[in-house]
Amino acid sequence: MSRKSKPAVSIRREVRAVSAYHLNQPVHRMKLNQNESAYDLPPALKARILKKLAKLQWNRYPSPYADGLRERIAQREGWRADGVLVANGSNVLTQSLVMATAVGGKIAIPDPTFSLYELYGRLFKNQLVKIPLQKDFSLDLDRFLSVLKQKKPDLTFIPNPSAPTGNLFPKKELTQLVKATSNIIVVDEAYYPFSGETLVPLLKRQHNLVIMRTFSKAFSLGGARVGYILGQPAVIQEVQKVLPPFCLNALSAAVAETALSSAGYVDKIVKEVGQEREQVFQALSALPGIEVFPSMTNFILFRTREPERVFKALVKAGVLIRNVSDGKRLKNCLRVTIGKPRENRQFIKAMQQLS
Ligand SMILES: Cc1ncc(COP(=O)(O)O)c(C=O)c1O
Repeated sequence: MSRKSKPAVSIRREVRAVSAYHLNQPVHRMKLNQNESAYDLPPALKARILKKLAKLQWNRYPSPYADGLRERIAQREGWRADGVLVANGSNVLTQSLVMATAVGGKIAIPDPTFSLYELYGRLFKNQLVKIPLQKDFSLDLDRFLSVLKQKKPDLTFIPNPSAPTGNLFPKKELTQLVKATSNIIVVDEAYYPFSGETLVPLLKRQHNLVIMRTFSKAFSLGGARVGYILGQPAVIQEVQKVLPPFCLNALSAAVAETALSSAGYVDKIVKEVGQEREQVFQALSALPGIEVFPSMTNFILFRTREPERVFKALVKAGVLIRNVSDGKRLKNCLRVTIGKPRENRQFIKAMQQLS
């Protein structure tokens, strides 16, 4: 469709009202804008995966809900396989959760938070209840609890560690939130391997808790598009109904399954990212006019007086980061993904030259 042509009249109002996902990606040498892993899979593991892929029957439909991968995830997490649902990226599961629980209902989200929750909330006619985080991006627990009790949202999303802010919410506070409602609370643990803190042990007791994970970050599989949720089987069975069967293709399922069976490489990535993140944090903190926020992820959020100028100057230096400057809480904020050591040095050097 050309840009100027009008959409067909039957396109829903809610769909027309939102903008399509768009990422401004000017030419760059260093890609530090999407929180991907800077490291591709170890060559030996990639070679093993390729052998496996060659043996698959590409002409056949895969298992409708990728049972082999579900079982492997269940083993790793100490959870039951019928309490696992996998899909082609956790974004798809975000959409499925909204469809299963909250079409035309209420969705609660922290503010600021990961943008996709709001997008799917809007597309499915929900009322969005945004609960402001504190100035340091910690949870306003009392306010959150009162929203859960009074507004009774059908669905609540909380990323932990938080995105795009990077901080970790205390387990104790999240537990209080999960206990304060019987409706579903999704704790999106996309960056869990970097923080090492999870709410998985709470799944047994809290039937309204759903934990969401992705292979796109620490597992270095952004291109394979694999995500999953963990929850009570009764919840998983319902969400499964709105997820199209075969939505995870056989190739990606095999990639993720093999990667899980040799997940030692993830520990190395997590260790290196932790060390590099500390160095980037220190170097940014030493710069005048920059406020840096602590992170338990593979990215760092920072505030500068002139986000546009900084963003453009970095692009000129070949470094692409993300301008997340928006609204009150993220005003003048930029976000940088931790890259390889050489990339991080280049980023820091460019920042130092700017100040
Ligand atoms: C909090 C959060 N959840 C989910 C995702 C997306 O995960 P996936 O690649 O599995 O769709 C991201 C990606 O940036 C994220 O930051």
